[in-house]
Amino acid sequence: MTAPEPLIAADVISARVDELAARIDEDYAGVDEVVLIGVLKGSFIFLSDLARRLSIPRRIEFIAVSSYGDRESQDPTGAVRLIMDVRHDIVDAHVIVVEDIVDTGHTLDYLMRTLEARRPASLKACSLLQKPDRLEVDVSIDYLGFTIPNVWVVGYGLDWAERDRTLPYIATISPAPA
Ligand code: IMP
Ligand code: MG
Repeated sequence: MTAPEPLIAADVISARVDELAARIDEDYAGVDEVVLIGVLKGSFIFLSDLARRLSIPRRIEFIAVSSYGDRESQDPTGAVRLIMDVRHDIVDAHVIVVEDIVDTGHTLDYLMRTLEARRPASLKACSLLQKPDRLEVDVSIDYLGFTIPNVWVVGYGLDWAERDRTLPYIATISPAPA
């Protein structure tokens, strides 16, 4: 495997996170509180940058799922499973799910359906990255950072088998793992 090759520089990410935070601030102006639900582990750096740039009142929750995408489980069915739930009720809350990347869309689709069933006041999705070429389910992303080609990316929270998660920028590794 080659060394990670920079794809999106730290200052470019930072400028985009500013823009997303400004849009969220505008869209939720006047709302009591927004609940940001970070999807572990990949979103933790994006979530922490985004959350600190918002001006609106906000609360942080985390959720964790396991999917075919976890190289450890290799589940061929594409099934997504909740492995850690949020700590508080989200009924009547204004919720934004914060993802690192939408690949096939199965994870986000599962999360949105699961959370919608709990009757939040509103539910939106925010993802730093999306690979449109890989989409298998029709999910809508209300706040999207960047679209990228079908390559495996690491850094800024994203990993390959736990490696390169804390790189300050987003990089590609090749050959892309299966
Ligand atoms: P999906 O369910 O296929 O949309 O995949 C979602 C999950 O797969 C993401 O939240 C990531 O955890 C992981 N994933 C997909 N593509 C990448 C990548 O290029 N780098 C790191 N993780 C990825
Ligand atoms: Mg993820």
